[in-house]
Amino acid sequence: MNGVEIALAGYLAFGQLIPQGQQEIVKHAGLQVLHADGAVTLRLKEAGREKRAEGGAEVTTIRLVDELYPFEVTRYVKSWDDCDAVETWVEIRHSEGGPVRLIRADSFASAIGVSAKEVGVLGLTGKWAQEANVSESKVANGQIVELASKAGTRDAWESNAGMMVSFGQSDEESGNVLGVALEWTGTTSRRIRRGWDGKTTEVFAGVDMTSGPYTLDPGKVFRTPKAVLVWSERGRGEVSRQFHRWARNHLMPHGRDLHPVLLNSWEGSYFSFTEKTLTDMMDGVKEMGGEMFVLDDGWFGRGKYARDDKNKDKVGLGDWYVNEEKLPRGLGYLADEAAKRGLKFGLWVEPEMVNTRSWLAEEHPDWLLQEKGRPLALGRGGTQVVLDYANPAVRERIFSDLDKVYASVPSLAYIKWDSNQNIVNPGSTFLPSDRQPNLWYDYTIGLYDLLAKFQAKRPHIMVQACASGGGHMDFGFLRYADEFWASDDTDPFMRVFIQWGASQFYPACAMACHVTASPNHQTKRETPLKYRFDVAMCGRLGFELHPKDLTPEEVAFAKKAVADYKRIRPVVQQGDLYRLASPYENPYSALMYTNGDRSHAIVFVLGLKENGEKPVSLDLTGLAKGAKYDIAEINCTVPHDAKLAGRRLGLALHGPYDSAVFEISQGD
Ligand code: DGJ
Repeated sequence: MNGVEIALAGYLAFGQLIPQGQQEIVKHAGLQVLHADGAVTLRLKEAGREKRAEGGAEVTTIRLVDELYPFEVTRYVKSWDDCDAVETWVEIRHSEGGPVRLIRADSFASAIGVSAKEVGVLGLTGKWAQEANVSESKVANGQIVELASKAGTRDAWESNAGMMVSFGQSDEESGNVLGVALEWTGTTSRRIRRGWDGKTTEVFAGVDMTSGPYTLDPGKVFRTPKAVLVWSERGRGEVSRQFHRWARNHLMPHGRDLHPVLLNSWEGSYFSFTEKTLTDMMDGVKEMGGEMFVLDDGWFGRGKYARDDKNKDKVGLGDWYVNEEKLPRGLGYLADEAAKRGLKFGLWVEPEMVNTRSWLAEEHPDWLLQEKGRPLALGRGGTQVVLDYANPAVRERIFSDLDKVYASVPSLAYIKWDSNQNIVNPGSTFLPSDRQPNLWYDYTIGLYDLLAKFQAKRPHIMVQACASGGGHMDFGFLRYADEFWASDDTDPFMRVFIQWGASQFYPACAMACHVTASPNHQTKRETPLKYRFDVAMCGRLGFELHPKDLTPEEVAFAKKAVADYKRIRPVVQQGDLYRLASPYENPYSALMYTNGDRSHAIVFVLGLKENGEKPVSLDLTGLAKGAKYDIAEINCTVPHDAKLAGRRLGLALHGPYDSAVFEISQGD
C-alpha cells in the first residue's frame, strides 16, 4: 500500500483500492450528466471489479452502472511497484436513445481523508517569457479554489496542469502534501473545496468544460485524461521527486536515457541562414563537445510562401516542404554534415498550425479553426491560426507531409514540436453544429492521435514539446516527448525562477535549458558566461547562439563546462532533486541532485541580482547523515571559499549574477 492510497481514504479504501462510496465521483460532483431524455440524475452502483498485472504495475478496474439509465462508468486505478504514484482515470459510455451531454467529467474527484487546520494549494502560472511562476493560496472554510486554463493549446502558461495541496503547514522537507497532475495538453480545471467547518477537503481534477457540455453518442466512449497522484508526508520536495521518478520510469518515451547536449539554431540565426551558417554552427558545437545540432524555424515553404528572412513568421506554416532556395541540397545534406562532425541532427516543426498565407490554407480554408460568421482572429505574424485537429483528414495530411520530410532524413534523431497560438477561433467545420463544444476535448485527442502515429513509426526519435516555450509543459505531452522547452526567456536570472517552478512537477532531464548570448535577446540583461552555464546545467544543457560570436577564452570555458556536464549528467538528469533555497525567499537559489545511493551529489548555488554577497548556508538534506563527503568546485572562474561541515555547506557569493557549482562525493 502506498502513500497515495492511505491519503485518499475516501477514494481508495485501505489496501484494496475500493471506493468507499460507490458513487464517489458523483457524490463529489466530479461527474454531471444531462441524459438523452433531459434528466440530470445519476445513481451509480458497482457492477464488478477486477485487478490485473501490467508489467510492473497493477491496474484495478471498477465498473459502475446507473440503476435507471443504460449509462456506465469505468474507473481505473494504476499503481507501480517501483514508485509511490497512482494514475487514475474514468471511461464513460451509454446506450441511451440519443446523445448524452457531459456537463462535468473529472478524472478524479474525492474527499481526502486527512484532517488539517489549514489547507493550501500551490500551482504554476504565467505567460510568454514569464512561465511557471509559483503561486500559492490558502483555501478558507466554505470556499472553492479553482486553478483553470482555458487556452486549448499552450495551457501550461495560464495554469499548469499540476498542483500541490497541502494539509497543515508544509515546506520543502515537511508536511502532508498531495500532488495532482493531469496528463493533458488542453484546458483543465482543478478545484479544492473545504467544508464550512474545515473538516472536509475535496479535490477535483479534470478537463475544463465551461465552454459547453461534451456530447457523447450512444456506443462511444469518453475517456478522461489520466490524473497522476502522489502523496508525501515529507513535504513538497518528496512530491516532486516522486513525480520525477514516475515520469522518467513510466511516462516519457526515453526517460531513462541520458539526453544530449545540443545546439538549437534559433537565437543564433533566427530566419536568416544559409547552408554555410548552419555548418559553421555545427563546427562550433562540435568544438565545444556538443552531441546534436537542431535546425529551428525557417527551413520550409515555397514560392511566395517561403519562410525566408523577408517573410519570417508571416507565411508558410502548413507547407512542409524544404525551402530549396535557402537549402538547395536539402535536409539530408545537413544531416550528413552533422554526422561528419559526429553530431546527431534534429528539426523544428509546428504541425498544429497554419498561416492564412500558405498553400495549405489556400487549398483547404475549411481546415482552419473558425467561428461561423465571424472574421478570423489572427495570431503570430498577423496570419497564424490553429488547424482543426478534430478532423482526421487534417491530421492525415499533416502526417503524410511530415512523414515525407522525415523519410528524407533517415538519420533524423530529434523533433522540436512547436505551437505558437491558442485556440482563439473555437469553431470546427468538421464537427456538427450541435457539437461545437466537443472541439476543446477532441482537439487534444486528435493531437495525441497524431503524436502517437509519429511515435509508432519512428520510436527512436526524441521529441521536444515547445509551444512558444513552456506552453506544453505537461505530463500529457510528455508521454510522447522527452523534454519541453521551458521558456523563450533564456535570461539566466529569469530562468532561475522558471526552472524552480517547472521542477515542482517535471524532471530535470525533461527541462531544456540553453546557454545564449549576452546581452540576452529577450531582456537585454548582461550576465557572465559562467552564470549562464551554471543555470543551464540544472537541466538538459544546450546552446542557442552562434558559436562564432564566442571569444577563444569563452570557447575554452564552454568546452570544459560541457565535459563536466557530461560527467555529472547522470546525477542531474536521473537523480533526486532537493530544492535547498528558494529564489522567492532568498537572494539566491540552491538546488542539489543526488544519485540513488547518495554517494554523489551536485549542488548549484545561483545568485540573483541584489544582495548576491549575502553568506549562503545550506543544509544538504539529500546527503546521507553521518557519511563523510569530499567537495570540489567545478565550472570555476573565481573560486568560492566553501566549507562543508557534516551536511552544512557555507560559502559567500561574489556579487550579483555570481554562482557556484560543487561536486560532492562520498569519501572512504
Ligand atoms: C517559438 C519557440 O519557443 C522558439 O524557440 C522558436 O522555435 C520559435 N518559436 C520559432 O518560430
